[in-house]
Amino acid sequence: MCGIVGYTGSRKAAPLLLDSLKRLEYRGYDSAGVAIVDKKLRIHKDKGEIDNLRESMPNIPGVYGIAHTRWATHGQPTKDNAHPFADCKGEIAIIHNGIIENYLELKESLIKKGHKFRSETDTETFVHLLEENYTGDLESTFRKVLPMMKGSFAFAAVHSKEKGKIVVARKESPLVLGIGEGENFAASDISALLKETDRVIALHDNEMAVLTPESVEITTFEGKEVTRRPERIKWTVEDAERGGYEHFMLKEIFEQPQAVHNTLLGKVADFDVNRFGRDAFPSIKIVACGTSYHAALAGKYILEDIAKVPTEAQLASEYRYSTAAFGRPLVLLISQSGETTDTLGAAREARRRGRRSLAITNYVGSSITREADDVIYTRAGLEIGVAASKTFLTQLVSLYLLSIQLGLARRTLSFDESRKMKEELRLMPRAVQGVLDEHKKIQKIAKKYHKARDMFFLGRNVNYPIALEGALKMKEISYIHAEGYPAGELKHGPLALVGEKTPIVAVAIKDHTYEKMLGNIKEVSARSSPVIAIASEGDRDIEKYVDDVLYVPDVPAIFTPIPVTVVLQLLAYYAAKERGCSIDKPRHLAKSVTVE
Ligand code: AGP
Ligand code: GLU
Repeated sequence: MCGIVGYTGSRKAAPLLLDSLKRLEYRGYDSAGVAIVDKKLRIHKDKGEIDNLRESMPNIPGVYGIAHTRWATHGQPTKDNAHPFADCKGEIAIIHNGIIENYLELKESLIKKGHKFRSETDTETFVHLLEENYTGDLESTFRKVLPMMKGSFAFAAVHSKEKGKIVVARKESPLVLGIGEGENFAASDISALLKETDRVIALHDNEMAVLTPESVEITTFEGKEVTRRPERIKWTVEDAERGGYEHFMLKEIFEQPQAVHNTLLGKVADFDVNRFGRDAFPSIKIVACGTSYHAALAGKYILEDIAKVPTEAQLASEYRYSTAAFGRPLVLLISQSGETTDTLGAAREARRRGRRSLAITNYVGSSITREADDVIYTRAGLEIGVAASKTFLTQLVSLYLLSIQLGLARRTLSFDESRKMKEELRLMPRAVQGVLDEHKKIQKIAKKYHKARDMFFLGRNVNYPIALEGALKMKEISYIHAEGYPAGELKHGPLALVGEKTPIVAVAIKDHTYEKMLGNIKEVSARSSPVIAIASEGDRDIEKYVDDVLYVPDVPAIFTPIPVTVVLQLLAYYAAKERGCSIDKPRHLAKSVTVE
């Protein structure tokens, strides 16, 4: 999940590379490094974050080079294992995002041929292979060597004798090219390039490109020419900056009224709903990872409730290797980045099984948009905090819209009912704002409980997946061990763990499960656990049973996940802040998980 950047032009490469790399730091921050060709190849790298590298950076002139921020898969996060890697002669430098699966055998044979390895990474094999097979130009050497690599990669390379040239290649790891005037760029994603250009070309799988200041030539690995026009990107540099907020995550949480509003305006019906009519498919299988999987689980409740389509949610990493069952479900893939390897693998598996697929993603032009038959875009805008917030909320919004469309197409929802629901949805930005306005109260509760070692998050029905998401947010950014549970399930085991040191967050909004939830709350408070309830505005009764209450605006039961999510995000955020955690870049995590 590393971030990679390349620049060739007439400006000094070092500051530009570091600046662009900084915007990819959410992809990994174990170590960072640059390789720039001045008179000869110069590499500088260090462990830790990019700022670390910046501090120790010598003055390197040079107008072309590559840079990398690492999320380690093979080898510890040390300086030796930091990219870029050079060949034995110190002429070629490479960076890599992905995993070379057959690196051990390649490495063994290269060592036998006399190559000296300086790291424990899988990546380093590539640069020695380039050296071993060097034909006098990098491009044809790439073509020779790439077929030897098993696994996934986005590579970028420079050679000190091939002035101004960067060669890149991609298979299953993201890579985009930025087009400038007399200069060109490559990067893992467009956020790195926003400051430099708004003209971007996505490189597809099994394609490579040669960049010089004047030209960008794309070909397949076999050498077939590819013509692809640049797309204009609408995101701005401001989107990639914190704009006065202490953290990106807080900014992104506060951007949610706008994000929800924009997603509601988006055309979910861009695809032909008639193809999704009554007889089109018997059921839906939603496949995703992490937070997006929680949206998938909520999607099961939403689609079954509104569109009456039997729906199942499955983790992408499990779907890929499961046995195809009977029936021909529509496979709905949810991924904010559109680059999650597990989810892309699931998309390919769905195709292998002959299933129609539909993707929900936030990234225009991401890999999943090419793997799925149809796409719905969430319009959350750029999300930089590693923990997903506004992208999750807009995934929920897309699921509501899709359910309404499907309900209409399958005639399980009347036109009037659908219109009423859409009107109610239009009030959601206001409901989200209502929660944000109460952020001080949420902060106070977070302060009260932030020292907890363990927590439980309980919910029922459509708020059960939201409890899971609340717990995941708490784990990810505050490092408090948090478990999400369907409230009715607690008594079947986990109740053994509750007690005065284990705060319980219970989603107890007024719906058909409310009374049952109250029962579950009594079960845990009888065992001395402090309880924080998330309740519907106006519910004064609940105050009798719990220690603290956070109210959410009263919205129809099926839509309550929207305001409830925002409370849980802020609770996790403020708990993490009290604990002094690295909120935007939690330890061991990266935003886009491009390895299995
Ligand atoms: C979100 O907070 C997590 N960092 C993670 O679970 C994420 O949701 C997961 O990796 C899936 O990512 P995607 O939506 O980009 O596919
Ligand atoms: N496998 C490489 C490493 O460990 C790259 C990792 C990645 O892209 O996530 O350095």
